[in-house]
Amino acid sequence: MQTITGKDIHAAAALLQKEEVVAIPTETVYGLAGNALSEIAVSKIYAAKNRPSFNPLILHVASINELEKYANVDATSWLIASTLMPGPITLLLPKKTNVPDITTAGSNKVALRVPNHAMALSLLNECSFPLAAPSANPSGYISPTTAAHVFAGLEGRIPYILDGGATTVGLESTICEVINGAILLHRAGGISAATLSTLTGLEVKQNSNITTPATPGQLKSHYAPNIPLVIGKIEEEINKHVGKKIAVISFQKNYGKQNGITSFVLSVNGNLSEAANKLFATLRLVDEADYDLILTEIFPNEGIGPAINDRLHRAQFLHK
Ligand code: TXA
Ligand code: MG
Repeated sequence: MQTITGKDIHAAAALLQKEEVVAIPTETVYGLAGNALSEIAVSKIYAAKNRPSFNPLILHVASINELEKYANVDATSWLIASTLMPGPITLLLPKKTNVPDITTAGSNKVALRVPNHAMALSLLNECSFPLAAPSANPSGYISPTTAAHVFAGLEGRIPYILDGGATTVGLESTICEVINGAILLHRAGGISAATLSTLTGLEVKQNSNITTPATPGQLKSHYAPNIPLVIGKIEEEINKHVGKKIAVISFQKNYGKQNGITSFVLSVNGNLSEAANKLFATLRLVDEADYDLILTEIFPNEGIGPAINDRLHRAQFLHK
């Protein structure tokens, strides 16, 4: 199959109408979209990504007014949706029967979000169905933040990539669920726990069980590059690994070019959003070059910092 990259929203909609899959931009990462109500389209998504069938997909809709077509929305979830959507947040809700089991991998809950990206919203408005879209990477690899990243991973496996430029958030959406009067955070992302607790007045609990997660995609080996990644105090770690070709990925400090080290600074000014937005592209760049080791550090635990730390921890586990 030939994979074409372009900006033609009508062409993308026509392919989706024919139960084909199309890679689409969102503000977080690129998604691999298909008609969420079509078992044929959804099975093509799983096949193209080589995604295990037990890992359910997020439904993308054009506006919060569509949430109730596919799920039962409680008052607190509605407050979150009406305040933070469109945006980098996904709500896990009790599903309605029109959502096929294959889309939720048999679960009676469905994950729903409204992406904050003009091209994605135009496309959703042209489609008469919601779009199921996992990140548009081969299962287990780093999520794509540009159309070129998608092409590198899925060339020949999908017909079309809708190019909406580089994503602006750069990490996947926050996934949360309102349950028993609290908020369960299934995945850290662009919306922080602090934002959710301030908005709702509820306690936000971490779902930290990453070996048997309630969101099956939160397996430890996710987001992994092909070379080992070590998180620690960078100066100490450099001394432990003398003689190796090391890529240092740091928040603010430049470690220069010394003894086989190359320094990649994610935000000279210490801006966590900028760092988050550069993280995946930098991991890819380093992974494609000839390093023995990636060395990185814990990022500040505020704003999108916990989401950065979460992705770094998962990237420690090699997927090959
Ligand atoms: O930012 C995002 O959320 C991106 C863009 C493309 O929208 N999508 C994304 O999808 O990250 P994916 O499939 O890579 O991650 C979705 C996560 C997985 O961990 C999956 O297990 C979980 O959401 N999930 C989806 N539906 C679920 C459900 N019904 N129950 C539990 N977990 C669910
Ligand atoms: Mg993913």
